[in-house]
Amino acid sequence: MKNLWRVLPFSLILLLLAGCGKQNLTALDPRGPVAEMQYSLIILSLLIMIFVIVVVAAIYIYVLIRFREKPGDNHIPKQVEGNKNLEIIWTAIPIVLLLILAVPNVMDTFTLAETEPDEDSLVIEVTGHQFWWEFEYPDLGITAGQDVYIPTDTRIIFDLEASDVIHSFWVPALAGKQDNVPGITNSLWLEAPEEGVYQGKCTELCGESHWLMDFKVIAVDPDTFEAWAQGMAEPEAELSEPTGDVAAEGREVYEENCLSCHAVGGEGGNPQGGPDLTNFAEREVIAGFIEWDAEDGDALENWIREPQDYKPGNNMPAFGHEAIDEDEMDSLLEYLDTLRVLDSE
Ligand code: CUA
Repeated sequence: MKNLWRVLPFSLILLLLAGCGKQNLTALDPRGPVAEMQYSLIILSLLIMIFVIVVVAAIYIYVLIRFREKPGDNHIPKQVEGNKNLEIIWTAIPIVLLLILAVPNVMDTFTLAETEPDEDSLVIEVTGHQFWWEFEYPDLGITAGQDVYIPTDTRIIFDLEASDVIHSFWVPALAGKQDNVPGITNSLWLEAPEEGVYQGKCTELCGESHWLMDFKVIAVDPDTFEAWAQGMAEPEAELSEPTGDVAAEGREVYEENCLSCHAVGGEGGNPQGGPDLTNFAEREVIAGFIEWDAEDGDALENWIREPQDYKPGNNMPAFGHEAIDEDEMDSLLEYLDTLRVLDSE
């Protein structure tokens, strides 16, 4: 118990800080119409609850003081039974409060459930895997892993599925969460008026590395989105014509070791495999959470060599020195650094 009191203040501070970190993983700083709608519901419920607590506590304290037993006063107060006025008041007030809470809640719930696509909306199929995210754009014929690019000011409809166990899709700055369930398609919609990178997370306990199942929603202006989608649709050969000999060699290493699980430019991969790597070098993190720098390949090499050390329980096998020797690794890293669709110039 003593420890609890020592730890509690720090936990609270951490909780507060978690809300204002660089990754905007908070529902309290809404950045789109859906998140704003949900935020106002949170505030409305909070205000009503505070109002109830304040009024009840005030009456309680008043009664405690006003009617307490006074020294020497032994008379029994007047006994009453029932009071119509009081009973009407304490029935009516909660009904009114519940109505104030219920009407906007029900209305917004219907608005949020409207996930039928119209001609201006963009549909993205999201599949949760242990422990990464796959984003398929059926109308554009492209698939992306980990980072989901969306155009600003566009109604985006996410159709959520899962390949193995239940996951849950959550981008708190843009929208509330929804489960990815194997065999069922749940949908949610959102819109991002501002460009930016919005942190997403899996919020359903889905295995050993559930807490590392992060992704990013990257909202860009419609022109950039168009360019990105075109780049993603390029066949591998045209996409990343490796410039140096080293990178060309790296591509062979890639084809031998990685291509059966990780597609690039629509080539390779398999349904049980790992994320598409077409724009790999443009990601800020490896495996959804490991900070890296394309210049310095150490983080990436460590990940390829011992993926289980970083993300226990994931499906990627370790590539030791027998599989990929030091030189091959260097060329592979160089090749991976060419996998860009936006800033390839
Ligand atoms: Cu997927 Cu937690």
